[in-house]
Amino acid sequence: MLTGGGDCPGLNAVIRAVVRKGIDAHGHAIVGFRDGWRGPLENAYEELTIESTRGILPRGGTILRSSRTNPFKHDGGPERIAENMRSLNLDGLIAIGGEDTLGAAARLHGEHGLPVVGVPKTIDNDLGGTDMTFGFDTAVQIAVDAIDRLHTTAESHNRVMIVEVMGRHAGWIALYSGLAGGADVILIPERPFDIEEVVRLIRRRHSRGRFFSIVVVAEGAVPVEGTLEVIAGDKDEFGHERLGGIGQLLERELGKRTGFDTRATVLGHIQRGGTPTAFDRVLATRLGLAAIDAANDRKWGVMPALLGTRIELVALDDAVTNLRLVPDEEYAAAAAFFG
Ligand code: F6P
Repeated sequence: MLTGGGDCPGLNAVIRAVVRKGIDAHGHAIVGFRDGWRGPLENAYEELTIESTRGILPRGGTILRSSRTNPFKHDGGPERIAENMRSLNLDGLIAIGGEDTLGAAARLHGEHGLPVVGVPKTIDNDLGGTDMTFGFDTAVQIAVDAIDRLHTTAESHNRVMIVEVMGRHAGWIALYSGLAGGADVILIPERPFDIEEVVRLIRRRHSRGRFFSIVVVAEGAVPVEGTLEVIAGDKDEFGHERLGGIGQLLERELGKRTGFDTRATVLGHIQRGGTPTAFDRVLATRLGLAAIDAANDRKWGVMPALLGTRIELVALDDAVTNLRLVPDEEYAAAAAFFG
């Protein structure tokens, strides 16, 4: 088993469930690879036992640690992974991860025939094939707590408060935390924003006698092309840009254009840290149990997914071929409260 990509509350709950059921019910031995795909590439692993995984259910992060190593960016990467799996006499590999980790897992299965089961994970909630990912509920709760706190200080000072939350391709965290926190404007990557429209909404609110506003913005939100200059960040091994900066840009532009006192808060990795909510612990546990059952049944190239209230196996490719974006009607529901 390995955990790859950005960490996420609930990873340890998956690990614990795989180990517990894998050993107790199925009689397997389980090894955990270290640091995402670096583990099977370099044969860095440890045996996981029921004893060594006790007490980890409520702990954030991952006891296996994680990295954004891309096995396809390393010479002979897939072959090295296959060889290391053979040398350890492994029946299969459970890869817990998001878009990049599962994308690599799908290719290792599809192109190299490796026996892989995926488990979908990301606080961004943007994977296809599943209705929700664990970690999302925790991230939303953290963001809502922050918005509630920013509300009271915004009101005391008649300020416009910008809250930048995570969400690279999809605005789920912004949408849900904004809805739950009573945001006055929510900006998401799926809908390039018009800065003048944001100004109009804030002014309208002020004209109705509310002298403070909360703007929740996903880190991946972008202005309509050609309207504002955005500075691009560095790229990682999967070619993803380092995001963060839209909050500051909005602070500057909204302050200048409205004349209202404006401040930005970037929540950043706080959203990924700490203990998972009860919902995420339960979801992660159910996914872990389903993953080890699938591996025990030698069903490769699949991942357990939440469909409605049920956990079902879907093709691993489904997670990454179509990311799950915020549909127009869900955004429209939140927009009813703007301005
Ligand atoms: O994919 C999850 C995520 O939390 C994104 O929302 C964010 O852009 C990215 O990870 C941050 O990654 P890193 O931990 O590498 O800064």
